[in-house]
Amino acid sequence: SDPLRLGIAGLGTVGVGVVKIVRQKAALLKARTGREITISAISARTRDKDRGVPLTGYGWEDDPVALATRDDVDVFVELMGGSDGPAKAATEAALAAGKDVVTANKAMLALHGQALAAAAEDAGTVLRFEAAVAGGIPVIKALTEGLAGNEITRVMGVMNGTCNYILTRMQSAGLPYAEVFEEANQLGYLEADPELDVGGIDAGHKLALLASIAYGTQVAFAEVELEGIGQITIEDIRQAADMGYRIKLLGVAQMTGRGLEQRMSPCLVPDSSPLGQLEGGTNMVVIEGDQVGQIVLRGAGAGEGPTASAVLSDIIDIARGTRLSTFGQPATALKAAKPARATAP
Ligand code: NAP
Ligand code: HSE
Repeated sequence: SDPLRLGIAGLGTVGVGVVKIVRQKAALLKARTGREITISAISARTRDKDRGVPLTGYGWEDDPVALATRDDVDVFVELMGGSDGPAKAATEAALAAGKDVVTANKAMLALHGQALAAAAEDAGTVLRFEAAVAGGIPVIKALTEGLAGNEITRVMGVMNGTCNYILTRMQSAGLPYAEVFEEANQLGYLEADPELDVGGIDAGHKLALLASIAYGTQVAFAEVELEGIGQITIEDIRQAADMGYRIKLLGVAQMTGRGLEQRMSPCLVPDSSPLGQLEGGTNMVVIEGDQVGQIVLRGAGAGEGPTASAVLSDIIDIARGTRLSTFGQPATALKAAKPARATAP
């Protein structure tokens, strides 16, 4: 059959990871999908930059919208980031031009994901975003596929690798904030605006997406009760440790009698618990379903290889002919949920 032709916008940590897999695992991808997966064209802000991977032979577009709408592109892979601007414009253009879209952009999805998914449905294309939540952990597929026979009763976990890295390294290595922040940067964990990470906003975006998928509700990021780790001091971390606890940026989404509760905030967890033992850029997502009970997913939540792995899983699904929306049901069928505030405003 015909090759599946990609147009990749964004050649940073994740984009380069995707290019490497497509180049280095071509035979494996073909064996798993029955199709060749090729790259037609690429785009980034700077053309002449050594990105540690050969990029000759691919078409180049300065404008991501031009890339997204090229005739030789079947799937637009958006890896630029940013909730609005070029990422949103190019995604909309790709869908309108009948292209499937794969993105890792949780900021864009938390604000516009439902409208973009509806646009995809109108156009008969698909919008997929496994990489947008918990990096390499296939948590969206777990919810939409493996656990599709369950009513989900709770989703919780640690969903930001940067915050987990900073909190654990400050405690275990006794290093100051600035030093561990730079280590997280070197590992490719940080958002372009790191305030999204340490302010808890990135994790809140992910929680809002998971809640929507888990409960079939409209994405309601504005209703997430948010608190980041900016106020946590080394003294807080030491005091928690003295009492046998660790501080984690923990998210919880659950349907209560009062409505949908979505909360992302620093919490004390027992040192010896699986959450307490979660080190570095690792994420952990705990899902509770009425039939299956509790499922615990743990793995790398950020970085080149893990995130590219999740992007590839969506590309592979498309190559195999899957037309399932990432939300697990039509975006237009998602219901508004009454927000429940866990704490008094
Ligand atoms: P990054 O390293 O900052 O790379 C962003 C890339 O986008 C760069 O190549 C940049 O070009 C390009 N770009 C930015 N604005 C552009 C524009 N207007 N036109 C064309 N290209 C543009 O970001 P990243 O870490 O790879 O993240 C990419 C996306 O994946 C984001 O949505 C992020 O939230 C998401 N994500 C990241 C991770 C992770 O661990 N890093 C994990 C999950 C999801 P230049 O290189 O020329 O500047
Ligand atoms: N900045 C994000 C994190 C990247 O640290 O978890 C993965 O979404």
